[in-house]
Amino acid sequence: MSQKAPIRVLVTGAAGQIAYSLVNFIAKGDVFGTDQPLDLILLDIKLMMEVLGGVVMELKDCALPLLREIVATDDYEVAFKDIDVAFLVGAMPRKQGMERKDLLTANVTIFKGQGQALDKYAKKNVKVIVVGNPANTNALICSKYAPSIPKENFTAMTRLDQNRAMAQIAERLDCNVNDVNKVIIWGNHSATQYPDVRFATAVKNGATMIQKRGAAVIAARKLSSAMSAAKASCDHIKDWWFGTGDRWVSMAVPSDGSYGIKEGLVYSFPVICTGGDERKYKIVQGLKIDDFSRSKMDLSAKELEEEREMALSVCKD
Ligand code: NAD
Ligand code: LMR
Repeated sequence: MSQKAPIRVLVTGAAGQIAYSLVNFIAKGDVFGTDQPLDLILLDIKLMMEVLGGVVMELKDCALPLLREIVATDDYEVAFKDIDVAFLVGAMPRKQGMERKDLLTANVTIFKGQGQALDKYAKKNVKVIVVGNPANTNALICSKYAPSIPKENFTAMTRLDQNRAMAQIAERLDCNVNDVNKVIIWGNHSATQYPDVRFATAVKNGATMIQKRGAAVIAARKLSSAMSAAKASCDHIKDWWFGTGDRWVSMAVPSDGSYGIKEGLVYSFPVICTGGDERKYKIVQGLKIDDFSRSKMDLSAKELEEEREMALSVCKD
């Protein structure tokens, strides 16, 4: 039996479809290791408490040895109290024909409120991944309303885009996905993202269907991606927690001005995570940006600036 103290992990949108896969991945040790016990805090809205009760029953029925306490709640104080890690999933998903930024008005106020709750109740070194769309701008708003927590602790997920790109490349080259490295997702988790394979170690040619993959899944499933999104959020937090070695991973993080991207925008960059006690990440520096890449990267940055303006005006209301 593990001697480690349990960590407190929050999943929001816990009665939803992503969480249905995610909670099992987390509780069986895929993210924090098979020697790390944890308390799982499951937040959803009042209306979903009965459904959430069913998820709790199933989690218990999985008989998972690392899982200590399970807390199901609609109360922000209970949910955010002393948490170490937050998977912020709870938000409305898009339907066929929508762009992710069409969700901004509906979703951004959720992240304002959850930023305030993080500020008030969470540990100051809490690590946050925003999955709910539009993820980059929601992370920016969440951080803005949690001024006592370092900005770099707020990230948004573009790992699903990275995983999609790696899987496509591996399929085309008939190699294992683990043999593909240095695929970069620049910018927004939206159709303006720039999947950049110029540095990829397994391929030298472009592969840009990734921008439209989310829409293709919605068209086929009539629901937005869930299992793959859950897996990608686990990959993101696991790499941040344990480190990446010299592998590059894409994470949307607050820009420090690298590659000419305006400071503060939550923009997807290639990063290396250091792991250890500090759990820092560093943006990979010194990559040559050609004219084509520059125009793609700027287009996504411009979209994020527009989203930021819109989000700030919604939050003022
Ligand atoms: P879903 O509708 O199945 O579940 C969302 C859940 O969030 C619902 O149970 C809802 O009641 C809950 N919720 C709403 N407001 C809440 C609040 N204030 N606090 C806590 N919970 C709240 O949706 P899903 O398919 O699980 O997707 C969730 C979000 O993730 C969507 O916005 C979707 O677009 C996004 N997503 C992002 C990525 C990515 O790569 N970044 C990938 C897939 C999906
Ligand atoms: C995805 O990339 O699958 C998610 O962001 C869901 C969506 O709306 O595309």
